[in-house]
Amino acid sequence: MSPTKISKLARSNRSPEPRLGARSPEVQPFGRLRLLPIALSAEARGQSAQVLNEILADSMILYGLYKKHHWLMAGPTFYQLHLLFDKHAAEQLELIDLIAERVQSLGGIAVGDPRHAAEITTIERPPNGAEDVPVMIDRLLDAHETIIEKVRAAIEATEKSKDWGSNDLLMGDVLRRHELQVWFVAEHVVDLPLIEPRS
Ligand SMILES: [Fe+2]
Repeated sequence: MSPTKISKLARSNRSPEPRLGARSPEVQPFGRLRLLPIALSAEARGQSAQVLNEILADSMILYGLYKKHHWLMAGPTFYQLHLLFDKHAAEQLELIDLIAERVQSLGGIAVGDPRHAAEITTIERPPNGAEDVPVMIDRLLDAHETIIEKVRAAIEATEKSKDWGSNDLLMGDVLRRHELQVWFVAEHVVDLPLIEPRS
């Protein structure tokens, strides 16, 4: 390298050191929309973003509940439920990403921090310790229904506002996945013996 080039580099203040400790004021506060050109009114986008964020927050809590119960599972159906709950958690994680990216597509800010989700969710908080298996199952079914109620209302609202992108996501991805998961979980609290006792 020529001496001129070396001295130019020295003057450019370049450094291989990572610049740590960056902080700045928010560039877009939560709840404020950006204008994205998707031919949908700000009112419709705002309404959808809000309700999707509520469903998103609940979904993050449900995901955590599935993982908690996957870990704390016990008893004769341990292995089956341990695996099922992990599968459902993974599917919820996929929904979480789809919902969050829909909020972003509408110009909103998706709930991202679990502490933020905890402020928004209406799902009852379980104790930090372990509970009986039927209670764990019931908590999951309860959380699903809380979300499903909101999803049904949001399907109607997005139909009225003609937000078809959110409507399609809520109906085709979110609602059907929840209904299927409820079926699989609810079958574990049906009181039917595998074999009839001999009389
Ligand atoms: Fe695991």
